[in-house]
Amino acid sequence: MAASVKSAFKALRAHRTEIEDRPLRDLFAEDAGRFERFSLRLDDLLLDYSKNRIVAETLEKLVALARAAGVEAARDAMFAGEKINVTEGRAVLHTALRNRSDRPVLVDGRDVMPDVRGVLDAMAAFAEGVRSGAIVGAGGERFTDIVNIGIGGSDLGPAMVTRALSPYIQKGLRCHFVSNVDGAHLHDTLKGLDPRTTLFLVASKTFTTQETMTNARSARAWLVAALGEAAVGAHFAAISTNLEAVAAFGIAAERTFGFWDWVGGRYSVWSAIGLPVMIAIGGARFTEFLQGAHAMDEHFRSAPLAANMPVILALLGVWYRNVWGFGSHAVLPYDQRLERFAAYLQQLDMESNGKGVTLFGEPAAGATGPLVWGEPGTNGQHAFYQLIHQGSDVIPCDFLAAAQPQEQMGDHHPILLANCLAQSEALMRGKTAEEAGAELVAAGKSAAEVAALTPHKVFPGNRPSNTLLYRRLDPGTLGRLIALYEHKVFVQGRIWNINSFDQWGVELGKQLAGELLPMVKDEAAIEGRDASTLGLLTEITRLRDG
Ligand code: F6P
Repeated sequence: MAASVKSAFKALRAHRTEIEDRPLRDLFAEDAGRFERFSLRLDDLLLDYSKNRIVAETLEKLVALARAAGVEAARDAMFAGEKINVTEGRAVLHTALRNRSDRPVLVDGRDVMPDVRGVLDAMAAFAEGVRSGAIVGAGGERFTDIVNIGIGGSDLGPAMVTRALSPYIQKGLRCHFVSNVDGAHLHDTLKGLDPRTTLFLVASKTFTTQETMTNARSARAWLVAALGEAAVGAHFAAISTNLEAVAAFGIAAERTFGFWDWVGGRYSVWSAIGLPVMIAIGGARFTEFLQGAHAMDEHFRSAPLAANMPVILALLGVWYRNVWGFGSHAVLPYDQRLERFAAYLQQLDMESNGKGVTLFGEPAAGATGPLVWGEPGTNGQHAFYQLIHQGSDVIPCDFLAAAQPQEQMGDHHPILLANCLAQSEALMRGKTAEEAGAELVAAGKSAAEVAALTPHKVFPGNRPSNTLLYRRLDPGTLGRLIALYEHKVFVQGRIWNINSFDQWGVELGKQLAGELLPMVKDEAAIEGRDASTLGLLTEITRLRDG
């Protein structure tokens, strides 16, 4: 770790001891301007980060850490197309996919923007054809069901986004996402679908992923069984960087939408991987989605570090992970249509920053990416919030909410918002023993009951959270939110000095699955593994055949 980063962390650790006895409820009581001081706006998107264990000096020290870690230079290198994914020798340019400016983006001296625009145009023409009924199935029927077959970044982005933007989906179109190699996923998706009106999109950056290829072959067989071999061309399209493998699978070039090695899988929803989204919501709305992300990119590139939303989110995460030792981070959208948002962020964050080795191949100096998890509120309140409020671990949370609902339905939205605000207030303020005891006395409890119950009714409080508030969950807002988290993850990766853009940690399991498959299929002798794996393999055979 560079000496300047080390000393910035040292200063933060010392600073923690100075402020740790000042609970958030006192900090709010002392400073009427705390909300204004610790909130940021980008158009209608508000980040309230005032309910964090910080004072003005904390922020100064965190920004000093970002400077020492070279965040600004790294950011500029990413936007400039430098090959910052060093272990794979690749540029990292998801920002080019949503570049709405007329600035060129150079990779190896060549502007990639004409290619980006070319694929977007091809996607728009195809999407419009499907939406209008100009592109139809082999028998001339309109497509009603789009089945995206992909996994990881080739699934989570479009699946999350189409769910989030479901009010914008064209009437009569349904989108399905098949990812798991468990045959149940494809089986249950196809059950009830009509092959004549079903369009498959096979999405895979590499076009070699075992799960996706297995599902694609089975989907093809299902279609062929119903409509014959000749129908395949009309019912399949592909999205990939591996155009040769797509051709070998039998999908025609005019039905293939490409992207490039400088687009990471978990950063690819802005590329042709977004095709199901574009078919669902149309080209104009997809453009709004890209514009939203571009607005966040412009903010990230130009706002000073202390007023930069992704930087602030990243620094707060580092503050809790490295200085306070908090190991997990909850994402809690009070927005039902963001029900897949935490799953999406799990890949974005944990596949990017779940690394123990620095860019130079040395062990990372401290903790890196936290465990990211969450579910929409209010559901989570009746499940795991107990632990967030009174459990022994402190879990920093992000709350997300729209001021306006998509549908006006009685009191639903005010109730949703009141619950969202109540949770972050409760976490911040807590309830002291005196307050809990007084409530029990007021409820007529005896002195013995008050003594027995009070410890259970105490909320420690001082539990940190951010709130992201926006007008409405529309395509532009969703684009801004995703880009916000992408850049947060990037800044953290820089501070931890790790490569956020490779994912070698997924390889060993893939390799071992390849070795084990013949044994599971009885095509090879069960031998040469550890005792547990041998025992499990033997038991699988016994139970399967018994
Ligand atoms: O196994 C992890 C991973 O490589 C992800 O990074 C990626 O998003 C996913 O698999 C799917 O890969 P592909 O798009 O090449 O099928």
